[in-house]
Amino acid sequence: MTRFNFDKETTREGTYSVQYEGTQGIFGKGGLEPFWIADMDIEAPDAIIDSIKRRLDNKIFGYTVWSNPEFFEPIKGWWKKRFNITLEDADINFAQSVLYAVGEAVRQNSSEGDGVILNAPTYNAFIKVFKGNNRKMEPSPLIRNEEGYFFDFEGFEALCKKEENKVFVHCNPHNPTGRVWTREENQKIKDICLANDVFIVSDEIHMDFVRPKESFSSMVELMEDKDPMIVVSGLGKTFNIASLPNSYFITKNQSVKKKINFAADNKYNINTANSLVLAAINAAYTECEEWVDELNEYVDGNLAYVEEYINTHLSDMMSFKKPDSTYLAWVSFEKSGFDEKEVHKALVDVGGIAVSPGYIYDFEESNHFRMNVASSRKRIEDGMKRIHKTFDHLKGTTD
Ligand SMILES: Cc1ncc(COP(=O)(O)O)c(C=O)c1O
Repeated sequence: MTRFNFDKETTREGTYSVQYEGTQGIFGKGGLEPFWIADMDIEAPDAIIDSIKRRLDNKIFGYTVWSNPEFFEPIKGWWKKRFNITLEDADINFAQSVLYAVGEAVRQNSSEGDGVILNAPTYNAFIKVFKGNNRKMEPSPLIRNEEGYFFDFEGFEALCKKEENKVFVHCNPHNPTGRVWTREENQKIKDICLANDVFIVSDEIHMDFVRPKESFSSMVELMEDKDPMIVVSGLGKTFNIASLPNSYFITKNQSVKKKINFAADNKYNINTANSLVLAAINAAYTECEEWVDELNEYVDGNLAYVEEYINTHLSDMMSFKKPDSTYLAWVSFEKSGFDEKEVHKALVDVGGIAVSPGYIYDFEESNHFRMNVASSRKRIEDGMKRIHKTFDHLKGTTD
């Protein structure tokens, strides 16, 4: 028996959502059916809404300290019950956003012109962070084969050995491929980085979308005192509250912690919490376990639907294997042999659909697109029909 209704459709009209209203700017056309940016067409859980409402009743929203039990206890509780990881208050630090913390860790542990290592394909906004901070991007391409994506440890080690490469930004689990890194892989990554004085930033924002949840291995498991490492996460993806500042970073290195918090306090002056977010974190991490489990089942069902649809109707042109994490389908149309630019253009012009083109994650993988499936099944069915129509059209034009 399910308790929550993820089939419910809720309009975002009038909310200035990037997902809907941003298609004109990004895809050159308004009114597309959007499945691109990673937020959900699913309402945040009632427990969060109720908690925020209770906080609203106080009617005073003055400056708020994040370093308090209402921040630490729910986070510690969540990590213990979900991942069996014990955190101390001193390990946990507020961050305005995941990307802010990633960017600040990069700025503090490298200089302009230095290299930052990341996997390819990569979450596209990392590229923005590195370019914006004048860091050189050093891609460590993942190895793709029939079984999926694998870490190229040899190539990675060679990059780490280069004196100018100072930081590795790890995406755990990995966006866009949905690859869940194992503890052994994470240990190898850590060993190589430490041996070569490469600072590790592990972005674990998709940690709650690992199926089964027990197969997630956080870099925190491997963290020891003074390790040059931070793990960044937050509640934006899990509970669909991306527009509220909801993130945090974890480190056992007191000097790293002090430096990042000092900058937030004194350089950027952004080190106070949002009072509504404290209420949200509390409810999310203490009352919404079941909601997250059911949501994962629903998302997994949507991914299975996409896989089945492709296998049944589009297997001559596309391939897709359901990932073990995220709500993102990384779909290949390499088989079709169609020109990549034409496909991306036709998805917009013929399908009327906004999915993220592969080239924003990796030029080598522009024969992919990323489809966000965190929506009602009805929307996913409609999205697949639009994709089908697009490829039928392309087939017709090339026959
Ligand atoms: C891997 C990854 N990191 C960070 C973010 C963005 O996090 P935030 O909005 O907290 O900066 C996203 C959003 O899609 C993401 O996929």
